[in-house]
Amino acid sequence: MRSEVEKIEKEALEAAEGASDLEEVKALRARYLGRKGVLTVFLRKIPGLPSEERPEAGRLANQTKEKLEEALKRAARDIEADLAESSRETLDVTLPGRPPAMGRLHPITQTTYAICEIFQRLGFETVEGPDVELDYYNFEALNIPRDHPARDMQDTFYISENTVLRTHTSPIQVRVMESQPPPVCIIAPGKAYRVDSDVSHTPMFHQVEGLMVQEGVSFGDLKGILTTFVHQIFDEETSLRFRPSFFPFTEPSAEVDIRCVICRGKGCRVCSHTGWLEVIGAGMVHPAVFEMVGYDTDRYTGFAFGMGIERIAMLKYGIEDIRKFYENDIRFLRQF
Ligand code: FA5
Ligand code: MG
Repeated sequence: MRSEVEKIEKEALEAAEGASDLEEVKALRARYLGRKGVLTVFLRKIPGLPSEERPEAGRLANQTKEKLEEALKRAARDIEADLAESSRETLDVTLPGRPPAMGRLHPITQTTYAICEIFQRLGFETVEGPDVELDYYNFEALNIPRDHPARDMQDTFYISENTVLRTHTSPIQVRVMESQPPPVCIIAPGKAYRVDSDVSHTPMFHQVEGLMVQEGVSFGDLKGILTTFVHQIFDEETSLRFRPSFFPFTEPSAEVDIRCVICRGKGCRVCSHTGWLEVIGAGMVHPAVFEMVGYDTDRYTGFAFGMGIERIAMLKYGIEDIRKFYENDIRFLRQF
């Protein structure tokens, strides 16, 4: 009788230990402890045993039952722990990494670089000047004295009586000429500020200033340089026209319109249905400006120009409202 219980116990405990899934544990429980289970059947036989054997048999069988319960519980717990472990997210080190989101240059910065590159190839050096400028450089040295009506051409942000946010990049011309004798061949990109806002004007915008001073520089050189530039930034088919104009710091002066690249001159929203877009102000440097910086006006002549970078970017990318550049709508900026 004792060996019979021991045999059941050994077999059952081994089976519990070897169980590999919960179904198996359940089956073992039914096989040994269920209503018709091996141990249950044995327990039922106890009342039929000789009376001196009964207490011993009952004790042994109950002991085995407890051990087996314990072993089956442990087996179920282990299997569940293994399952939880294996269902946890695994790391596949062979997958390609997620690339970091890359920023990109603002379309105005891209256009500025493109413009500067063309002029660099033509022999112009790139220089810069301050955004907060003395009245002297922004106006006075450019032949625009105080109370001169030409000051009304540009609505100025004053910082104090003598300092302004520069209204154009032309003051850089003066700073360069003050600091070096001719020959001068520079471009100067930068921000300009005016009290101005509509589809083609923003209070802050960008210009590229150009200046060439040397013996014998003529209006023909200006035309040649600007024509070459326009053909390179757009294409050979893009025409430009020089309109007589007025700037106090150039004489003669011209405004340069570029044939609308979008509609090829037929008229569209970008060019306000005129077929042309005013992009550049230019002219021959006024002798009064040369005198302010001490250049010999008998010996030297020069041309200067200032172009609106936003206007060029609008034509290059077909953008009809200049303000789009500064709304910082990521869907707009991502296109460039
Ligand atoms: C000037 O600013 C002169 N300093 C240009 C110059 C330089 C003439 C050297 C002669 C010699 P104007 O105000 O026209 O000129 O501006 C030049 C260009 O800047 C314009 O053709 C236009 O393309 C751009 N611009 C002017 N105001 C704005 C604005 N509020 N928003 C965007 N672009 C503007
Ligand atoms: Mg103008």
